[in-house]
Amino acid sequence: MQTQPVIDTTAVRDAYRRWAPIYDLTFGRVAETGRKHAVDVINNRQGSVLEVGVGTGLSLESYGSHLEITGIDLSTDMLNKAQTRVEEQSLDNVVSLHEMDAGELEFGDASFDTVVAMYVLTTVPHPERVMAELERVCKPDGEVILVNHFSQDSGFKGWAEQRMAPLARELGWRPVFPVERVMGFGDLRLAERRALKPFGLFTMLRFVKQPDLAEARVGSEADASSPSLRPAAAEALYRDGEANGAA
Ligand SMILES: C[S@@+](CC[C@H](N)C(=O)[O-])C[C@H]1O[C@@H](n2cnc3c(N)ncnc32)[C@H](O)[C@@H]1O
Repeated sequence: MQTQPVIDTTAVRDAYRRWAPIYDLTFGRVAETGRKHAVDVINNRQGSVLEVGVGTGLSLESYGSHLEITGIDLSTDMLNKAQTRVEEQSLDNVVSLHEMDAGELEFGDASFDTVVAMYVLTTVPHPERVMAELERVCKPDGEVILVNHFSQDSGFKGWAEQRMAPLARELGWRPVFPVERVMGFGDLRLAERRALKPFGLFTMLRFVKQPDLAEARVGSEADASSPSLRPAAAEALYRDGEANGAA
């Protein structure tokens, strides 16, 4: 029997219809440091960038003019704000914005030099599908960059996250989201992990797409960044856990 994810596309669209008018002055502000850090890293790179879950486009004005930016988001209301921002600020390096599901990207394999998702993985219905898509559309030797909240098992923070877990649908994001859920996808090798302000609440992960890494990893548990579960098995495990009100 297929279990429904705790968050579905309807819940995401509903949640971000409510968030769109107030996002920039609320969560948008709290998340500013992490966003700026990721964009600074990306500005040292060249070529094309796909920003997945671009939201209201708060990052767009900070990208270097040498980059070609494409943005996608599931929420029309958030995207409309991003589009207005692009037009009002004449952001010529933003090539296009699309309404699209991060779990089913309408781009060919190896389309972008850099793929970034900031504060998105905890909000999507199928994080494992999204990770697989980020890896697929990234060019060999390209980078996938995530900024996200990852949950803890212990301490007050872990306790509070567990108590909030049943509210995922109403919140529009998962309070419980272990970092293992984004590890071990295809050819992605974890190259950097950095705790970000405020209070290390968010983490930046930088992955390099290393050709043939997935093949080399098969049967090997030696690489510390490789998962103990394959993505499909991980999705089933976490989906069932969420349906039972746990992880
Ligand atoms: C917390 S906001 C982050 C927005 C932006 N990245 C930022 O840094 O402000 C999460 C965004 O992810 C989008 N999102 C959630 N699920 C998605 C999906 N499956 N496909 C595309 N976008 C999605 C939401 O609509 C929302 O705009």
